[in-house]
Amino acid sequence: MTASLYSAKLKYSGAVAEEYVGKREEAPTWVWEQEQVAAWARSRPAGSSVLDVPFGTGRYVPVYRAAGLKVRGCDISADMIAVARRELGEAFGDCCVEVADAEDMRHLADGEVDAVLCSRFIQWLPSLDIVDRILAEFARVADDELFLQLRIPSGAAPRANPLGARVRRALASPGAAVGRVLRRLRRDPSTDWTIHIHPEPEVLARARAHGWVLAAVSEECPSRPGLRFYRLRKG
Ligand SMILES: C[S@@+](CC[C@H](N)C(=O)[O-])C[C@H]1O[C@@H](n2cnc3c(N)ncnc32)[C@H](O)[C@@H]1O
Repeated sequence: MTASLYSAKLKYSGAVAEEYVGKREEAPTWVWEQEQVAAWARSRPAGSSVLDVPFGTGRYVPVYRAAGLKVRGCDISADMIAVARRELGEAFGDCCVEVADAEDMRHLADGEVDAVLCSRFIQWLPSLDIVDRILAEFARVADDELFLQLRIPSGAAPRANPLGARVRRALASPGAAVGRVLRRLRRDPSTDWTIHIHPEPEVLARARAHGWVLAAVSEECPSRPGLRFYRLRKG
């Protein structure tokens, strides 16, 4: 792990990892992301490779395989990768997945993969310096293309978490609610869901400085204002 430390590096472990897919897979945003990535994967040359960072639970592996892509992945959380191994079964064995920090993927040689895909990540990074380091690593390891998801400020909606919903959730599961409060008091990283909305021009300027040229931008996610995928190619 590099010197920088932030909650996203620590919080996807234990129960957060175990519950990751179940809490999200029915949500419209998750479904929209699956469709966006499937369309992108089908547009890539069959037989080419994709590095999914952060790999998480390997949610996109079925669509990569359907498109005939070779899959690599890396994630800092061994627990998320363990969930991926369990969920994907045999398909996991065809992927090459490593526990690694996206800021420093020294296990990968320059240009070792054709493309990098990055979803649900940049908004968890607390500074543009870290974003910059990661975009540089993507440029080093990928030969051709980056499919990058960003949440941009314009129209970004505040997280909906009304008091009534929180109270109903606590009453439905009081033990879990007490656990959450105790973790919050201990300032456990699993309770930190602060989103860092980095301005789009700043991120794209840093990408450009590392050789990534914007080729296309997706439509905005209908269920999550400000969420888009950016297709960048080596200039
Ligand atoms: C919100 S999840 C996204 C997972 C997956 N990309 C998806 O779309 O579902 C964020 C992931 O980032 C991983 N992560 C956080 N910091 C990381 C870092 N510096 N390097 C690699 N993975 C990291 C976490 O372990 C977690 O699996």
